[in-house]
Amino acid sequence: MGRPYVDAAQRLGVRVRAVESEALLAAGPADPDVTYYPVPNGLDESWQQGVTRAITERTPDGVLAFAEAHVLAGALAQERLGLPGPSLHAAVISRNKALQRTGFGAYGVPQPGFLLAPDLGSAREWMAERLPVVVKPLTLGGSEGVELVTTPAEADEIVVRRGGEGKILVEEAVQGPEYSWEALVHEGEVLFRNVTEKETTAPPFFVELSHRIGHRFTDPALAAQVDALTSGVLRALNMRTGLVHLEFRVGVDGPVLMEVAVRTPGDFLAEAVGLTYGFDLHEAVVRLALGLPLGDRVPTEPVAYAATYFPTCAAGTITAVDGVQEIAAHPDVVRIRLRKGPGDVVGRLTSSSQRLGHVLVRAGSPEEREDALKFVADRLRIEVTP
Ligand SMILES: Nc1ncnc2c1ncn2[C@@H]1O[C@H](COP(=O)(O)OP(=O)(O)O)[C@@H](O)[C@H]1O
Ligand SMILES: [Mg+2]
Repeated sequence: MGRPYVDAAQRLGVRVRAVESEALLAAGPADPDVTYYPVPNGLDESWQQGVTRAITERTPDGVLAFAEAHVLAGALAQERLGLPGPSLHAAVISRNKALQRTGFGAYGVPQPGFLLAPDLGSAREWMAERLPVVVKPLTLGGSEGVELVTTPAEADEIVVRRGGEGKILVEEAVQGPEYSWEALVHEGEVLFRNVTEKETTAPPFFVELSHRIGHRFTDPALAAQVDALTSGVLRALNMRTGLVHLEFRVGVDGPVLMEVAVRTPGDFLAEAVGLTYGFDLHEAVVRLALGLPLGDRVPTEPVAYAATYFPTCAAGTITAVDGVQEIAAHPDVVRIRLRKGPGDVVGRLTSSSQRLGHVLVRAGSPEEREDALKFVADRLRIEVTP
């Protein structure tokens, strides 16, 4: 995920020092032009250990935090050194879904009704009165632990199964299509924005299956509500400079915030956004982090239509995978990469990490993109024995 940032920085003539996990450094060849600060694991505090070592050894011109667990360490360093960044306020809130719910209402951000409870047992009555509800951990990602509860029996069961997790969010379930919004922000001002249309698995687990970049709301009233939601979130965050990624559903009463993060979106969205608008989003983020001007590099209109698609299959052992070469040869397919194949065991799809791989598509129009996605879905055959 960091590679395109390193490439962009090196193209700009910037010397890169990177905080990286020991496991990743052990797994592959390191970049000889990068100085590494290894950290033992992916915990927020471990990143901070690496970052403080790096910034005390030599003061950097910019600090860029791109993954969820980097956000706090990055913002602490940016604040301390007076460097551009989202703000410590935004970083802390980005890292905690409960702080979003508790803090955003006062800024007028539409959110689901919620209860923050010390444990799920204390939320039993609230849940029972508002079914269906969504149970959600405060600081995880990739839909991990996010679960829809529909019936009183399910509510009883989840209280037994997850009552020991401690502090937890319970929210009213919002029905309606889901979108994300990616924006480049400089000193609180939005320089670039994009809407992505999402497809997730059916409840109860909401695993993301595809993203279509460059969505446009044709209803002007809805478009205005989305603008109000996104600017409300930026204000509530006290967002200063960097990349913002927020998710919302459009329910019966309009758009409702799911969550916001001041980091690079996952699922190859940054690459797909770049392909759609014909610019290097990673380089723009590096420039913002260094306080360099973006000038006229910021596009407003799509030049193509990209999407990412995540193949899935039933739980079991994969016996055969067909169609990969045919898909790779399709002119609108940029890349197909599967990380599972024959002999691999696949569990029930409950979080993003269990998906089989990804396909990146880029077409000349939304219609051609649909054709390409349909081609991929039809031709990719994954056989599984339960
Ligand atoms: N209150 C809700 N109503 C409906 N769907 C929800 C709700 N909260 C979360 N979801 C679904 O679950 C997904 C994951 O939840 P999210 O808060 O984004 O956590 P994560 O950090 O795991 O992505 C969302 O993208 C959305 O599809
Ligand atoms: Mg999310």
